[in-house]
Amino acid sequence: MIRLASGTDRVALEILEKLIFNGDAECFLDDLCFVVDAGESGVVGSIFLSTSGNHRGTILSIGIIDEFRQQGHGTALLEAAEDAFQKMGVGKMKLQVEITRFGAIVCYMKYGFVMTSLMKNYYGRGRHAYIMEKRIRK
Ligand SMILES: CC(C)(COP(=O)(O)OP(=O)(O)OC[C@H]1O[C@@H](n2cnc3c(N)ncnc32)[C@H](O)[C@@H]1OP(=O)(O)O)[C@@H](O)C(=O)NCCC(=O)NCCS
Repeated sequence: MIRLASGTDRVALEILEKLIFNGDAECFLDDLCFVVDAGESGVVGSIFLSTSGNHRGTILSIGIIDEFRQQGHGTALLEAAEDAFQKMGVGKMKLQVEITRFGAIVCYMKYGFVMTSLMKNYYGRGRHAYIMEKRIRK
């Protein structure tokens, strides 16, 4: 089940961040956040969103723990993000992804994101990122 995160998810989200990103992703509950709540297994994934004033939404981070990947949860989080952006009147959503994250890139492309540019050394020396965007459905 996808639901909005609440304050009680803080510890679970910190654990997820360490498991998935080795503490690399800096996201906070002040950002809009949806989680995948797998009942007895707890919170197994999350997506953090922000908006800027120019009708553009940003996906700050998305992650599902390993054993729950490729079961549709990532796509469900992207749908929740798109629904939320649509309600806010946002026209486009974008994200950055390290070019080595093959699974994530496949997931984004299947969802309808397209690569718009390459940012060299975005994550540090030799660690490049694609910028990907998708128009929000009407
Ligand atoms: C990116 C991520 C959130 C995707 O979540 P997910 O739950 O595995 O995604 P889904 O199950 O919804 O997959 C969507 C599609 O992408 C495909 N896909 C996902 N990972 C894949 C992989 N490693 N190899 C090939 N295809 C893959 C799925 O098969 C699916 O295609 P289908 O609809 O034809 O079946 C997850 O892989 C993840 O947490 N990765 C590590 C963290 C990360 O890289 N985050 C992104 C940082 S920008």
